[in-house]
Amino acid sequence: MMEQNKQSNKTIQIYLNGQWVTANGAMTVAALILSQTTYNTRTSVTGMQRFAVCGMGACQECRVSVNGRPHQLACQVWCETGMVIETGGAK
Ligand code: FES
Repeated sequence: MMEQNKQSNKTIQIYLNGQWVTANGAMTVAALILSQTTYNTRTSVTGMQRFAVCGMGACQECRVSVNGRPHQLACQVWCETGMVIETGGAK
């Protein structure tokens, strides 16, 4: 089970795919990506776009790069101030 984020309910800024976006500390990275209508977390080995399916860390479809670390599960990571997220590249 995920622990509550210490920054919950604060408005924060996150760098998502080269743009600063507003988030809430109570959001997971997957929720942030969904709120930006970017329905793509990674690209499959066959070139298909993927997005979060299970929301509980099982399917691995939500893998993104967080602060330069690839293959982080967006559904299991809380948004934090200044976080740098890149989607689409993890295969
Ligand atoms: S949505 Fe399934 S592991 Fe994140």
